[in-house]
Amino acid sequence: MKHMLPPLPYDYAALEPHIDARTMTLHHDQHHASYVANLNSALEPFPELHERTALWLLLNLSKIPDKIRTAVHNNAGGHVNHSLFWRAMSPGASRAPAGPLADAINRDFGSLEQFKVRLAEAGATLFGSGWVWLTRAQQDGGRLQVCTTSGHDHPLMQGRFPILVNDVWEHAYYLKHENRRGDYLKGWWAVVNWDEAARRFERSGHPAGHNWEGEDESLPALTT
Ligand SMILES: [Fe+2]
Repeated sequence: MKHMLPPLPYDYAALEPHIDARTMTLHHDQHHASYVANLNSALEPFPELHERTALWLLLNLSKIPDKIRTAVHNNAGGHVNHSLFWRAMSPGASRAPAGPLADAINRDFGSLEQFKVRLAEAGATLFGSGWVWLTRAQQDGGRLQVCTTSGHDHPLMQGRFPILVNDVWEHAYYLKHENRRGDYLKGWWAVVNWDEAARRFERSGHPAGHNWEGEDESLPALTT
């Protein structure tokens, strides 16, 4: 099985002016594509791993041969996280959460605005390259949590199911916002796909952890 670059579920310019078309083109066609190519290249001499999903590889790094473990860690993570990231945004989705996800945000953060402040603070203060997430923890009664991961680490590596994600690597915003990560984080709310977040929240309600680990994040965009 070759890992595949999923198509963007919208045009490169669809998230303008908040995320510019040039950034989206480079980000998807070059950065994400390189993670997929590098993952396939690393796995090529190891046919016993060819049927494994990118998420499985990322969650089972102890079973990966030493020689390619770092490459698989970085590139499977980059592939899984970016595949989620494209779907976390949409030019035409609901502009605020609704239903059970909205109720959970209000319960666990106090309000949508307080959640937005928490996520923006976490993203702005993350040192170096990484990701900021809204997650639901298997522990702690399934409450929502904001967390960050470094590099291309994924929250399921710590038993947290991702509901919403933003990429805070400089390649996600530097062309438009230069060093102003806070401006990027602020503008990003206008393109958040709350419908997708609500779907992921619903899926996170499955009681058994294996259901979380079994999903294939490398699949193309879900239909809405
Ligand atoms: Fe990225």
